[in-house]
Amino acid sequence: MPKSVKDILAMKGVKKISVITAYDFTTAQLCDKAGVDAILVGDSGGMVMLGYENTIPVTMEQMCFFTEAVSRGRKNAMVIADMPFMSYQASKSQAIENAGKLIKAGADAVKLEGGIEIKETVKAIVEIGIPVMGHIGFQPQTTTLQEGYKVQAKTKDAALNLLHNAKALEEAGAFSIVFEMVTKEVSKIITESICIPTIGIGSGPDCDGQVLVVHDVLGLYEKIKPKFAKRYLDLAADIVKAITSYRNDVVSGKFPSQEHSFSIEKSELERLKKEIA
Ligand code: KIV
Repeated sequence: MPKSVKDILAMKGVKKISVITAYDFTTAQLCDKAGVDAILVGDSGGMVMLGYENTIPVTMEQMCFFTEAVSRGRKNAMVIADMPFMSYQASKSQAIENAGKLIKAGADAVKLEGGIEIKETVKAIVEIGIPVMGHIGFQPQTTTLQEGYKVQAKTKDAALNLLHNAKALEEAGAFSIVFEMVTKEVSKIITESICIPTIGIGSGPDCDGQVLVVHDVLGLYEKIKPKFAKRYLDLAADIVKAITSYRNDVVSGKFPSQEHSFSIEKSELERLKKEIA
């Protein structure tokens, strides 16, 4: 049975929550096998899978496509799908309809960026029975439009503002909140001030859990290397090395060898040759 909202809530203050992104079946299977608590089908998929400059162009159709593949690949991890830019801002009914599409595609919960300004939207989605994860601090869908990549909550006022946003999401019924690029001291204070788990990305060690983009963990995406992302592999270099060896083997005739080829019976071959002759 996949982990539920109840399981994630019960981990607060007991055990750290591990979350990683995935966008396809094979990667989801591997993440699940590694034992992560949740897989986030992030709209970061628009950048690392589709090559967009940022997450703004990502569509509902693309998010449903990624979510279907990921949900087929997991057994135990909870699947949370991002609601892309402009899939929930226009009206509550638009938000409910699109959250429902992601659940039908296989997600167990949806994630929305924003705080107080989306409180009523979050409430409406939760009220119909769809679990919601919040996302505050650096919000890639909109903060990029205003000020670019910037660490959040560096002043008292900014920190208080973030605390109010976290409380609003908790009151609206969100089951957890992602903190992106929030100063570690402020992450700790807010984590201790709310009852739902906080999941940090670039927000220090005191959040209740952590999330990273799988391409950053594996060293697959070379365009942006965030300071907060720990690389556990240099897979891009290994992949280029492997494909170069394959190309060289094709060019030199070393591949395919006997072990990668199929044969016709000798007698059949003789008969064939006779007939052709
Ligand atoms: O889209 C994403 O991958 C995210 C994480 C950065 C939290 O929202």
